[in-house]
Order: sequence, then structure tokens, then C-alpha cells
Amino acid sequence: MWGGRFASGPAEIMEEINASIGFDKRLAPQDIRGSLAHVTMLGATGILPRADVAAIQDGLKAVQAEIEGGGFVFRRELEDIHMSVESRLTEIVGPAAGRLHTARSRNDQVATDMKLWVRDTLDGLDAQVADLQKALAEKALAHAGTVMPGFTHLQSAQPVTFGHHCLAYVEMLARDRGRFRDARARLNECPLGAAALAGTSFPIDRHATAASLGFDRPTANSLDSVADRDFALESLAAASICAVHLSRFAEELVVWTSAQFDFVRLSDGYTTGSSIMPQKRNPDAAELVRAKSGRVIGALTGLLIVMKGLPLAYSKDMQEDKEGTFDALQALSLCLAAMTGMVRDLEPNAPVLARAAGSGYATATDLADWLVRELGLPFREAHHVTGRLVGTASARGVGLEELTLAEMQAAEPRITQAVYAVLGVENSVSSRTSYGGTAPDNVRAQATRWLERLGDAPAP
Ligand code: ARG
Repeated sequence: MWGGRFASGPAEIMEEINASIGFDKRLAPQDIRGSLAHVTMLGATGILPRADVAAIQDGLKAVQAEIEGGGFVFRRELEDIHMSVESRLTEIVGPAAGRLHTARSRNDQVATDMKLWVRDTLDGLDAQVADLQKALAEKALAHAGTVMPGFTHLQSAQPVTFGHHCLAYVEMLARDRGRFRDARARLNECPLGAAALAGTSFPIDRHATAASLGFDRPTANSLDSVADRDFALESLAAASICAVHLSRFAEELVVWTSAQFDFVRLSDGYTTGSSIMPQKRNPDAAELVRAKSGRVIGALTGLLIVMKGLPLAYSKDMQEDKEGTFDALQALSLCLAAMTGMVRDLEPNAPVLARAAGSGYATATDLADWLVRELGLPFREAHHVTGRLVGTASARGVGLEELTLAEMQAAEPRITQAVYAVLGVENSVSSRTSYGGTAPDNVRAQATRWLERLGDAPAP
């Protein structure tokens, strides 16, 4: 392709380290879309004669059909997807194909291809996250009143509902979608026509190519256009946070499905057996979701390190943006699908959750709140009284609700029989009616609001 200045071909190892076709061939659809937009603009502006434009357009479609049909032969000596498409185009169209590369370079071409790929992928991820939110909101509605222990420091803290726990993830995922949307909006400027780095002397119409590829506008600085990989970094950053959310939920599923917790059941469809221990039902999918966050974060840090310290404009280092980005966003997509499947599949074990919700003195805060509300104690003093009662109960090996009224009154004489009502977990969760609290009515309202927003409200 650049034969003029070279007397001999590259060394074997040069070709090997230089070639990106092994992984950038997946950009073929984007590359051909970009070339079609470019050549159409070259025709409309009169830079290329109509006949050449038509021949190139037909040729590009023929190349596309070959690639889609699996009949296209990718050759390492052609280095990358841009050269591979152009070389085959030349075989099909003849010398006119050589006019396609007028007023562009592989530098603006690859930036455009990557942006198109990342944009399409972000749209797909957003839809997948929405589906996971829907699955969680449906579970939340079904289990708005299913009590479970809420934890801080993984110690029993206060009872919550299973639905409330599910909705926490719906909120986290909503922020993930916001980050994907932000990244998409900032990404959506077209680098095509920046050429190698300085722009071009041909009277191209960058607004036309930008519009025909669905970009909001062309990028405003030709150096930045070919030097920028922020769009990949931002998408990987958003993907990393999303992957971290999924890994936290995955960890909970791993813990909850253990025999010791037995909080939720996953069906045979989402567990695997052990080849040696017949009793085992391993949550492999959850474990892999937990683990794959490593790839996503790794791709982000990898690309940050590639970009760090690169002088303007394009450097070949930037070819290293691809494998990590492809792998990470694909891994996230797989994790989202697996997580959505597990959420639809899982069944909370309500009796075990209810028992666990009442253990560990989880209603101690309810008792302290009662002392404040009914007896007018300052909260700090109520905290002390409750602490003493927990000590008494713990020394006897019983729950707070099993203490006698006399034992209660030994700690605070004004305590009455009415206190026992707040010591039950059902009463505890029902009383948490503050905005965003875990009361079943709140959870039902929030789940319904989410399902309406996500476009699939259950019949009222
Ligand atoms: N394969 C290259 C990449 O992925 C395309 C751009 C090559 N540009 C260049 N000047 N060699 O970055």
C-alpha cells in the first residue's frame, strides 16, 4: 500500500508485531460504513467523478457481502482491516478503488471505526442493563414484604426486605446507564476527514459524513480527532463501575446460596455439580461474573497506561486500544446476560430469611427508637439502655423479644408491655416508612414506579 518508498518487505517479526487484522477484522462493518459515507461525500462535493463513486460503492458492498458470507480471506501481510478492505476493493473495482483514500487517512478512519463500534456496543449494553433492572424490579415487587437481615460490616444490622435489596441494585444500574449515556453523548462527534492529523486541502464536507454516520457533528480539531481515545476510556470506566456492581451482587449470590446461609435457591439451570462431591450445587455463573470484573478493570487500566504520556497526534501505540476494549465490553455483556438470567431464576428462601432477620438482635434499633418515641429518652441514652438489654439477652442466650417485662424494667423502669410490638421483624420493616426506607409499601411503590419507567408495568 505504501510500496513507493520501500525496496523490500517487512521482516517477519515486524509483520507480526505490526499486524492488527487478527483482532480489528471485527471492525469490518464499521469500516465499510465509514468508507461508504466518505466516498458518497467525495461524490457529492465533486471531488471524485460520479462513475468512480458508483463503482467504489458497489465494490464496498461486494466486499461487505464477502465478509458477511465468511468467504473473505484475511491476510496478515495486509496489516489491518482498512488495508484488507481496500486491497480487496482494488481487486474488484480496479484502479478507481485507489481514489477512495482521497482526503482521509487510516488515522481518522480507525478513530471513526472504533467510535462507531463503541457506540453500537454502548447501546446494546444499555438495553441489557435495562433488562436486568426490569428483572430486579419484578423480583422486588414479588418480594416487597419478604423480610431478610440487612447487613453492615456483614454483621446483622437491621431487618430489611428482599425487594428493597433488589431495588438497591436497580438504582446502581440506573447510574450505570447514566454513565453509558454520558459517554455516548460525548463520543458522538465524527473524526472522519481529520485525515492524518492536519486536515486536508480537498473541499470535503465533514458535516455531511458526520450526519450520514449518525454523529451529532464533526470533531473540531484535527489533531485531537486522531489522538483521542477518551471515548474508549470513558466507556471502559463506565463499564468497570457496572462490572463492580455486578461483582458485588454476584458475591452476595455466592454467599447466599451456600448451605450455611441458604438465603436463596438457584435452579439446576444456573448451578453446576461437582465431579466428586455429590451434594454440591456450585454457583459458577455468579463466581464468573464476580471474576470477570477483573478483565474490565484491567482493560481500563491497560488503556490508560497506553495513552499516558503519548505525544500528539496518532502513535501506533493506540492500536493497542482494541483487544482490551473488545474483550471487556463483550465480557460485561455476557455478565449482564448471566446476571439477568440468575435474577429471574432465583427464589428467596423466605422462612430462613425471616429467621435470620430476627437473629443477631437486629431489632435493637427499633427498641432504642421506641424508648426515644414513647419515653422521651435522648437517643444516646436509649442506645445505652438497649445495649444493656442486649447484654442481658445475650447472657441468657435468648432474643430481645424473649426477655421478661421485669428484665426490661430493670434496665428502664418505664418500659411497658407495648415495647414487644416493635421487636418483631415484620413490625420493624413496616415502620421504616421514611422516603427510601425499606417498608413494604415503599418497596411496592418504588418497584411499580421502576417497572412503569422501564416500560413494562404489571396490570394494576
Ligand atoms: N491499525 C491501525 C490502528 O489500529 C490503524 C491506523 C494506522 N495508522 C498508521 N498511521 N499506521 O491504530
